[in-house]
Amino acid sequence: YSLKALNTFAVEACAAYFAEAQDDQAVTEAINEACRLEVPLWILGGGSNLVLTGDVQALVLHMASRGIRVLEDDGQQVVIEAEAGEPWHPFVLRSLELGLAGLENLSLIPGTVGAAPIQNVGAYGVEVKDVFAGLTALDRQTGSLVEFDLAACEFAYRDSLFKRQAGRYVILRVRFMLHRAAELSLEYGPLRKWLQQHDVQSPTPMDVSRAVCSIRSEKLPDPRVLGNAGSFFKNPLVPQSKADALLEQYPDLVAFPQGGGQVKLAAGWLIDRAGWKGYRQGDVGVHRLQALVLVNYGQATGQQILQLSEKIQADILERFGVNLEIEPNVV
Ligand code: EPU
Repeated sequence: YSLKALNTFAVEACAAYFAEAQDDQAVTEAINEACRLEVPLWILGGGSNLVLTGDVQALVLHMASRGIRVLEDDGQQVVIEAEAGEPWHPFVLRSLELGLAGLENLSLIPGTVGAAPIQNVGAYGVEVKDVFAGLTALDRQTGSLVEFDLAACEFAYRDSLFKRQAGRYVILRVRFMLHRAAELSLEYGPLRKWLQQHDVQSPTPMDVSRAVCSIRSEKLPDPRVLGNAGSFFKNPLVPQSKADALLEQYPDLVAFPQGGGQVKLAAGWLIDRAGWKGYRQGDVGVHRLQALVLVNYGQATGQQILQLSEKIQADILERFGVNLEIEPNVV
């Protein structure tokens, strides 16, 4: 079964077995089926944070469950729940249409609701953990349903318990705490600038969503047009002393203090500065507008994408003494 249309890098790879889950029962059945076939079960959401390096010797279960519902509404705070298979951006739009604020900064992120907590997706100053109310997962070790609250998910920058314990839990549905009165997050500079430039005086959540969509479309390639998995590397955390040394040598280095003596560097700046932006070798390349994004111009394989990323990592280590960590899951 070809997975080419199911990963946003559009890499050709096949699954030994494939099934779709519309509901909880289909997930349980797939677990049993994988057991019977004596192959691993492997969960696929939107395939937007994934590098497939070969055929997958597993039963690939595509999460296709649908459903969005309001669980609690006290007139101000609203808990909304969505099934894991719901595509993320339409879900964000739906919440905005319901007059709810909280997800607007996370507009236009590819992928599904169920995958969003795994790496605590974030953009423009907001992360899933900031609006998270809880989730229901199936524990494959015990076969029972488990409820996770915020603390239990152990969210961190592009990380969570679910990413660290890959394969143990199948996320079935996720809940978000949203608000009727808009508490907007406008700390991200380019977002404020966009609203100013477009003369938006007191922005609504919908305005912020529009701004985010516009900013994203300007810099990030649309996976339907050019294969990619968003940021390929995480922004590295370095000690203040390391950042200071780099700043002395590169005064225009982009660095954000994180507290605790740690500084987050813009990996895109490092890769750009090292001259990789727009680089192309065969069908793999570094996006010409955003150096953090690797792209597939057509027939690239996962191996070729990884080879390029290793070259970039080695170069950044040599030039700046900084280790870059890969963001997507490599399968
Ligand atoms: N920069 C460059 N050259 C580049 C790219 C970036 O100099 O080629 C500089 C920019 O000028 C800016 C800084 O680096 O000063 C940061 O760039 P940007 O605001 O575009 O954000 P980013 O750090 O590259 C992160 C997330 C994105 C998210 C944006 C906006 C990570 C790994 N990436 O990118 O998330 O959309 O911030 O919040 O944290 C993703 O994870 O897939 C993703 C797209």
